[in-house]
Parts: sequence; structure tokens; C-alpha cells
Amino acid sequence: MIKLDNVSKKFATGVYGLSSVNLDIDKGEFVFLIGPTGSGKTTIFRLLTREMLPTEGNIMVNEMDVVNLPNSKIPHLRKNIGVIFQDLKLLFDRTISENIMLPLEVAGVKTEEAKNKVQEVLEQVGLKDHQDKFPIQLSGGELQRAAIARALVLSPDILLADEPTGNLDPATSWEIVNLLMEINKKGTTIVMATHNADIVKSLSRRVVELEKGKVAKDTKRKDKKEKEEVKEKEEVKEKDLKEEKEPKEEKEHKEEKKDKDEKGEEKE
Ligand SMILES: Nc1ncnc2c1ncn2[C@@H]1O[C@H](COP(=O)(O)OP(=O)(O)OP(=O)(O)O)[C@@H](O)[C@H]1O
Ligand SMILES: [Mg+2]
Repeated sequence: MIKLDNVSKKFATGVYGLSSVNLDIDKGEFVFLIGPTGSGKTTIFRLLTREMLPTEGNIMVNEMDVVNLPNSKIPHLRKNIGVIFQDLKLLFDRTISENIMLPLEVAGVKTEEAKNKVQEVLEQVGLKDHQDKFPIQLSGGELQRAAIARALVLSPDILLADEPTGNLDPATSWEIVNLLMEINKKGTTIVMATHNADIVKSLSRRVVELEKGKVAKDTKRKDKKEKEEVKEKEEVKEKDLKEEKEPKEEKEHKEEKKDKDEKGEEKE
């Protein structure tokens, strides 16, 4: 579903945002993307949505070759990927429902259908009562929900959440994460960039850790490696057992004979 193949991004300043990143995410996964500030998390998201091009490497999203995608196909790519931006990017002169409506307007969805879809996602994120308010009238957690609703309104297959709990207290952070887990359960693939170690530790999901633009750790790959190692060990054990079987039988046979001989002696 998402594949980064040897992807590097060198910025005009000479800084490498990413270097030689390989990443493979399957449909329906929930992946935490962690790593210190400046490690390349947002850069991955911006490459996936073709906000910018990599300096090197290939990127596939839903069978689309992102790097070589003609400009005319970029809106189609972006319909497949909902993004919850680190800085939310809500428009402050529009109400919550108008903000959520925007992607539908841009996509040319008919007004009636668009209105229904907006109501559906407002319900899903629990913001129905706030729909006519302006962003300035909402709390941080509510604004985060609004950004999630806007990212969901085109029913994307993939949701990229860039630090969705960044400025929230622990209880509200968990509410947001639980909402994302619910969305994931319905089939949406989710990649969540986060600095929230508590949440990452508490949920046993795949963790991809970036460090200075490189993948420093990927629990999925580790799991795979561990499984392969266990399999190898089992195979070696089986082989050993086979080799042992012959001498063991011989030994048992000898012991039986010895027993009989001893019993024979007793009789005499
Ligand atoms: N447009 C740009 N021009 C030059 N350098 C950039 C640009 N965008 C990002 N960088 C650099 O690339 C590196 C990766 O940045 P990125 O925003 O991906 O980090 P991040 O992991 O999302 O960090 P944070 O946790 O703070 O959000 C950083 O060193 C950053 O300064
Ligand atoms: Mg970032």
C-alpha cells in the first residue's frame, strides 16, 4: 500500500531530510512513526502526498508511482491520503463545518452529497454540536478532531496524522488516539507521527523510529527477523533430533538387554 524504496531527500540548504529510507506499510496497518525533532517524520508525509519530490528513490502509494505521477493525477493521489497536519491548517475565517466541507468543494462533490458527508464525519469525531463555531471558539482537542474530520471527509484509504496529540493533555491525547484506532478498525491505514512515548508504549503497534533521516528501528522488521531466527533454531533442533535418534535407540536396546541379563542372574 505504501512503499518507500531507498528514498533520500536533500533540501536546497544541503540538509538531508531523509537518507536511504526503505519502508513498507500494508493495507490496514497502524504504524507509529517516532524519532527526535528533525529526524524526518514530516518529510516522509510531504513526500507521500507529492508536496515535494525525493532527490533519490521510488515511492509507491496504492499502486501509484508517486515520483513519476503526472501533475494531473496529483489530486487523485491526495484523495487517497487524508492528512492531519502538525499545525492543523484550519482556516480561521470559516466555521468548523465549512472547513470540513472544503476538500469536498475542491473535489467537485455535489452540494447535497457533500453536506451529508460533512454531517457523517462530524458525527464520527463527535463535533456535531460545534459545527457552526469558528476555530477560535474550540479547545485544542476539539480542533484536532476537526482536523481529523477534514482529513476523513473524502474517505481516504490512508490517514497520515502528524503529531495529533502534540499540544493536548494526557486524557485528551488518549481520546484522540482512541478515535484514530476506531478509524483504523474500519480499515483505514494509519501512520501517526508522535513524540508521545506513553501512548506508543501502551499500544503494541508497529513502531518505525527515525534518526537523522534514517530508519533506526522498525518493529515489524524485527518481528520478521525474530520469527526467521526461531524457525531456523527449530529446524536445527529437528535435525539434531534425527541424528540423535539412531544412537538413542541403540542405547535403549542395550539397556533392555542388560536388564534381562541382570534378571536372569537373579533367577539362578
Ligand atoms: N523545506 C526545508 N528546507 C530545508 N530543510 C528542511 C526543510 N524541511 C525540513 N527540513 C529539515 O529536514 C529535517 C527533517 O525535518 P522534518 O520536518 O521531517 O522533521 P520531523 O521529524 O518532522 O521533526 P518534528 O518532530 O520537530 O516535527 C530537519 O533537519 C529539518 O530542519
Ligand atoms: Mg514534524
